[in-house]
Amino acid sequence: MSQKMRLAVIGCGAIGKVHAKAITGLDEAQLVAVSDLRPENATKLAAEFGCNAYTDYRQMFEKEKPDLVSVCTPSGTRMDICRAAADAGVNLLVEKPLDISVERMKKILQTAEAAGIKLGCVFQLRFMPVFSSLKRAITENRFGRLIIGNAATICYRSEDYYKNGGWRGTKAQDGGGALMNQGIHNVDLLLWLMGDAKSVYAYADHLTHDIEVEDTVTAAVEFVNGAVGTIQATTSVYHGINKKLEIFGTDGAAIIMGEDPVMWKFNEPLEGDLSFLQGKESEQKGLSPTSPLIEDVSEHQQQILDMINAIREDRQPAVPGIEGQKAVELVLAIYKSAETGKKVNLPLEN
Ligand SMILES: NC(=O)c1ccc[n+]([C@@H]2O[C@H](COP(=O)([O-])OP(=O)(O)OC[C@H]3O[C@@H](n4cnc5c(N)ncnc54)[C@H](O)[C@@H]3O)[C@@H](O)[C@H]2O)c1
Repeated sequence: MSQKMRLAVIGCGAIGKVHAKAITGLDEAQLVAVSDLRPENATKLAAEFGCNAYTDYRQMFEKEKPDLVSVCTPSGTRMDICRAAADAGVNLLVEKPLDISVERMKKILQTAEAAGIKLGCVFQLRFMPVFSSLKRAITENRFGRLIIGNAATICYRSEDYYKNGGWRGTKAQDGGGALMNQGIHNVDLLLWLMGDAKSVYAYADHLTHDIEVEDTVTAAVEFVNGAVGTIQATTSVYHGINKKLEIFGTDGAAIIMGEDPVMWKFNEPLEGDLSFLQGKESEQKGLSPTSPLIEDVSEHQQQILDMINAIREDRQPAVPGIEGQKAVELVLAIYKSAETGKKVNLPLEN
């Protein structure tokens, strides 16, 4: 099938622009329209990428008949948009986090299933070679039995970052702070690599920012397979390292700092192990420890291409909605534990 798929974007802010840029760089897709509550945001993005602008996404669905829409609005605004897309038969690629409440995420999944549309959640880091190599090594059982998985997101966001947009750092629309917004990428990677979580015990607080959600959190995690681990996130540390991921098993150990493997050791080494370790990228090209802006859109582009292929091949996308839901559920369980001072079991009721 050589015809280009018709793609649209809802939410023309920072990440909406990343999607628009990623889509226009794909041979397989055409960006037909963008939509935003604020007309100036929609017209600006539409002018930059040569497509139509709307303030009403329902009207956009009706007139443009897109095959796939990227939902890039604030985290707590997903459900109505997803419902309208499902009603119009438009496939959905929703930015992380899928939503900020379990009840609403379940409804989004049910609605998409009932409408027979594909639902994917953006976790673009899974498409980075370093993390797909790590996943492959686990799938090939190179780590033996998994024992420990740790994920830390240690970064900085300014007061201006939280003030801009009016939704960041709010319970109603961000749904959380350092973990729900920044750390969720690492939460997803940890679940993807270690398997489902069984319980958590956590502490969370806002230590430096004047926001109603946490800017610093630390949690102990127990996985269904018996392994244990930790999750940390903060937006309060200026000289942050951004991300650190550690996987330890009975037969292997890996530490990834940012996107660089700094430890990659196995009981049974393979020929490519040394070059994998030495061939590390010298600069982090993904998410920065101090800036929310994404310069390199290639991972978003790969995820959008995967969605296009999932629609064409009638298969599940690489990151289906249910996996978006699991990451948010673990974040919400961590918040619940921090609030109650008790261990919280997963999955959550609502
Ligand atoms: N994958 C990533 O690495 C990544 C990076 C940044 C942001 N995000 C996610 O993307 C989402 C948006 O973040 P952002 O930084 O682009 O925010 P932003 O504030 O820059 O942009 C949001 C845009 O959505 C518009 N909007 C708000 N409510 C709307 C509605 N109901 N209908 C239509 N338009 C609406 C706003 O006017 C604004 O233009 C968040 O959920 C965030 O977590 C993901």
